[in-house]
This record gives sequence, C-alpha cells and structure tokens, in this order.
Amino acid sequence: MGKISEALKKLNEEKERQKKEIMEKEKVLKKKEEAREEIKEDKSGAVRALLSSWGERLHFKENFFLFSSQSPSGIDPRIVTYYDDYSPLSEQYRLLRTNVKSLVKRIKGNHKSIKGVNSPAIITFSSSLRNEGKTVTAVNLAMSLASEEGTKVLLIDADLRNGTIHKLLNVEEEPGLSTVLVGEYDWSVGLHPTLNKNLFVIPRGKISAHPCEFLGSRKMRMILERLRGEKFNYILIDTPPLLSFADAYLIAQLTDGLIIIVEAHRTKAEIVRKAKEVCEEAHTKILGFILTKVDYYTPDSYYYYYNYRKYGRKI
Ligand SMILES: Nc1ncnc2c1ncn2[C@@H]1O[C@H](COP(=O)(O)OP(=O)(O)OP(=O)(O)O)[C@@H](O)[C@H]1O
Ligand SMILES: [Mg+2]
Repeated sequence: MGKISEALKKLNEEKERQKKEIMEKEKVLKKKEEAREEIKEDKSGAVRALLSSWGERLHFKENFFLFSSQSPSGIDPRIVTYYDDYSPLSEQYRLLRTNVKSLVKRIKGNHKSIKGVNSPAIITFSSSLRNEGKTVTAVNLAMSLASEEGTKVLLIDADLRNGTIHKLLNVEEEPGLSTVLVGEYDWSVGLHPTLNKNLFVIPRGKISAHPCEFLGSRKMRMILERLRGEKFNYILIDTPPLLSFADAYLIAQLTDGLIIIVEAHRTKAEIVRKAKEVCEEAHTKILGFILTKVDYYTPDSYYYYYNYRKYGRKI
C-alpha cells in the first residue's frame, strides 16, 4: 500500500473513532436531557420539585454500617445522622433536610399558632408498600433537623402494628401513642427524650389490635391540635403503608401533608400512581416523593441514574 493511501486509511480510522466518541457523548447527554424532560413533563409540581433534587440519592448498603452495630448509645447504626452529621451518607439526608425546610416555608409561610409562636410543620411519612424505607428515612431526617441549633423536633410512631422507631432510637416502647389514645392521658405522657436534646419521640406503645379506630378518632385529632400549639418546629409522623391500611390517610388528613417514600427498582410506577390516586381521593395533600435504595454511578463528572426513566416520568 502506498504511503498516501496508508495515510488516508489512518485519517479515516481517526475520523471514525472521533465520530464514535461524539456519538457516545451525545447519547449520554441525550439520556440526561430526557431524564430532565421527564421531570419537567410531570404533572405534579411536588414530584418535579422534590424528586429532581433529593430522592435519588438516599441509598446505602446494609453491610456498610454493620461494623458499628454495637455502639454503646444503642442507636441503630442506620441512623447515620446521629453518628456523623458530616459523612457522605448524612450529607444526603442534609440535602433532604434543606429541601424539606424550603418546602415547609412554601406551604406554611409564617403561620402563627394561637399561642403566638410559629406553629410546627406536621408531616406524615408513608409508602405504597411495606419495607420501602419510611422509618429509616423519617428518623434520619428528624435527627438531621434536630441537629440544627434551636430546632425542636418531635417524631411520632403512628405505625401501631409494626412501629420500630423506639428500637432505632433506643427509647422505651411504652408509654407511647397507643397508651395515650386508649387511656385518658395527655399526649405528653407518651413523650420520650432522645440522646439528641432537640429530638423527642412518641413511640408506638403497646401493639394495638384496631389501630384505625384510634388513629381516626377524635382523640387523635385533639392530640394533633394540641401539638400545633407546642414549641416544636417540626413534627414528623411515621405510618404503615398506604395500600395495606387506612391508617396513613387518616393521619395525613390531619397534618400539613404527606411525603411518599418510593423504593427504587422494586415499587412499580403504577403502584405509586395507585397510592397517589387513593391519596387524592381522600383529599390528602401530597407534598412530594423520596426515592430510596437507588443505584447510580458517575461517568464523567455527572450522575446518570440507572433505570431513572421508569421512575422519573410516570409517578
Ligand atoms: N435509603 C435506604 N437505602 C438502602 N436501604 C434502606 C434505605 N432506607 C431503608 N433501608 C432498608 O430498608 C429496610 C426497610 O427499612 P424501613 O424499616 O425504614 O422501611 P419501612 O418502609 O418503614 O418498613 P415497614 O413498612 O415495615 O414499616 C431496612 O432493612 C433498611 O435498612
Ligand atoms: Mg416502618
């Protein structure tokens, strides 16, 4: 082969390589753009605002924290925000905290209670199905909020069948919410301090046989009304899954709104849509969604989320 044709061949090969490289880059950019568009197209402003900025990153591997499971505080190692507020994992919860704070500002403005103090933002946490990460997310968010000077947080375990907050935070199981609901007690009887001086807990109390009756009761309504006049900045309420029991709707209707936890790669979009529809029928205000357990990797300095499409568009 002559020198000229050899040079031409090399030139063509180089052109081909460059073309391929450009195509690859365009593909990645297009996917990123599509993901953005899907969020924009979404009918729900809440999903757009929240899902795009926080949900995707709430992910940890079970084995990651096994090493610290014997901590003398007895607080579950999954409550990463207690152990190190500056770890990369806590950073994700801090981002969540920032978004929740601005969401609360948007929905409540400077709403004053009867006592003249800022009334607490009361937010319910639920998910469509079991085991999607509601409790771990709510507890980490509560701890993260309470780690800010001057922010008082109350966490209520309204999963009267299966609540685990007392175990995660190593507080007594009783007296708790069920104790207060069943007896003639004031809500404060169920209040427990935690190792974070700004974080208080009302655990579930003794397991109740008919939680719906209690959670939908006049007493529950009264408790929340009383709590609106107390000096908490945030009250977070953990509940059972939406598609299994009515408990979460009953509670959410009495609060400022509901945040729905969605487990990525497991909970199908149609299931989340169903839960969203049921909430809307029950006139429950959905504040947003949090995606948990998402796998992601970082090619070239930006995130491209695995299976993003499935969750970004249809919720
Ligand atoms: N962000 C996350 N990333 C990875 N795993 C998580 C995450 N959040 C929770 N998990 C794990 O998922 C499992 C369920 O968590 P959790 O108890 O918080 O779920 P839940 O929705 O409250 O469950 P239930 O419906 O039984 O109340 C636990 O094993 C927990 O460690
Ligand atoms: Mg739970």
